[in-house]
Amino acid sequence: MRNLLVTGGAGFIGSNFVHLMLERGGFERLVNLDALTYAGNLDNLSDVQDDERYVFVKGDIRDADLLDELFARYDIDTVVNFAAESHVDRSITEPLIFLSTNVVGTQTLLEAAKHAWKLNPADKYSREYRPGVKYLQVSTDEVYGALGKTGMFTETTPLAPNSPYSASKASADLMVRAYHNTFGLPCNITRCSNNYGPYQFPEKLIPLMIHNAEAGESLPVYGDGMQVRDWLHVRDHCSAIATVLEKGVDGEVYNIGGNNEKANLYIVQLILKTLGKGEELIRHVKDRPGHDRRYAIDNTKITTQLGWSPAYTFEQGMAETIEWYQTHRAWMEKIISGEYQNYYQDMYQNV
Ligand code: NAD
Ligand code: DAU
Repeated sequence: MRNLLVTGGAGFIGSNFVHLMLERGGFERLVNLDALTYAGNLDNLSDVQDDERYVFVKGDIRDADLLDELFARYDIDTVVNFAAESHVDRSITEPLIFLSTNVVGTQTLLEAAKHAWKLNPADKYSREYRPGVKYLQVSTDEVYGALGKTGMFTETTPLAPNSPYSASKASADLMVRAYHNTFGLPCNITRCSNNYGPYQFPEKLIPLMIHNAEAGESLPVYGDGMQVRDWLHVRDHCSAIATVLEKGVDGEVYNIGGNNEKANLYIVQLILKTLGKGEELIRHVKDRPGHDRRYAIDNTKITTQLGWSPAYTFEQGMAETIEWYQTHRAWMEKIISGEYQNYYQDMYQNV
């Protein structure tokens, strides 16, 4: 890996990944391509903007001409695709943008990588690529659908997405598979469980609940709050991606998770307790349509075959995360003072 293209690097996980990679080094340049949608935030990266290895480009992964130019100008040999519409609730009200960004965007990026890296692009039968190139697709455990009370998702669990978001991510995964199987493009797919940590947009459960609890506002828990998610600290997700870049076998899928299942209500109660607030703030609201009941990742493949393991315990990670949001109020205020207010009203006023 010499020149890395990170897409969606101004979002939650992408910005944590940019930080981690710049701390670790081992490459010449990191180009961050981000369209700066509502979820992209350059404040997440203010401390690295002067790093000479780092370049920010505002642009869209669906812009094929821009991609061709970036691959050529920066001699890109590695792609990590975080760019996506990522929020399940938004995919319920506006599915089309998920199809466009997550599926068409991924295919456009794959095509650009194939074009730039294939040794003989004019020969449709050739499967030879420049040595050392890699395309990594950041996917999600939601492509597997929902679990009952028992069982875990392995890499061979059939895809059964239930929301427009997860259907778009599953479609993107299938396109990556097709580019590997048809064209021989060196690819990996990672499928991670729910992330938490610094810089997460407050439409998602944990930062939303921390903010509302601090502000003394009600905490909107969907349905009975007994839906289960398998939480992983974002830095652990990023270190797993770095491990797959380094050691992943071409064409393989790797699940990423920390064996840490928690019910939503437990998370909300933990946040309230840590902030010294009472449970009377909890408000049970209408459930999300098609709400997946439980996710759980079997991480045996990545831990045994690639030697990755998470570094954070949930207790340590949550304590640090809550403290991070308490000490970064200006970051949060800037986000929630804008368009977020309209989103919040529309999302929660009639439930
Ligand atoms: P996010 O919504 O915080 O960030 C997405 C980023 O992509 C933003 O910076 C946005 O500006 C950018 N973007 C959107 N459309 C773009 C386009 N057309 N071109 C270029 N940039 C574009 O998302 P996140 O939570 O950081 O998730 C990142 C990736 O990880 C997504 O692919 C998501 O599906 C996946 N994922 C997320 C989680 C999680 O818990 N958050 C878990 C597993 C997988
Ligand atoms: O599993 C990985 C996925 O995790 C990622 O692919 C997605 O990009 C990411 O958004 C996340 O999806 P979820 O739908 O699980 O995350 P979210 O934070 O939106 O919700 C977590 C749980 O909390 C879910 O069961 C819904 C519930 N919830 C969420 C919100 C925002 C509430 O009860 N109230 C809320 O206000």
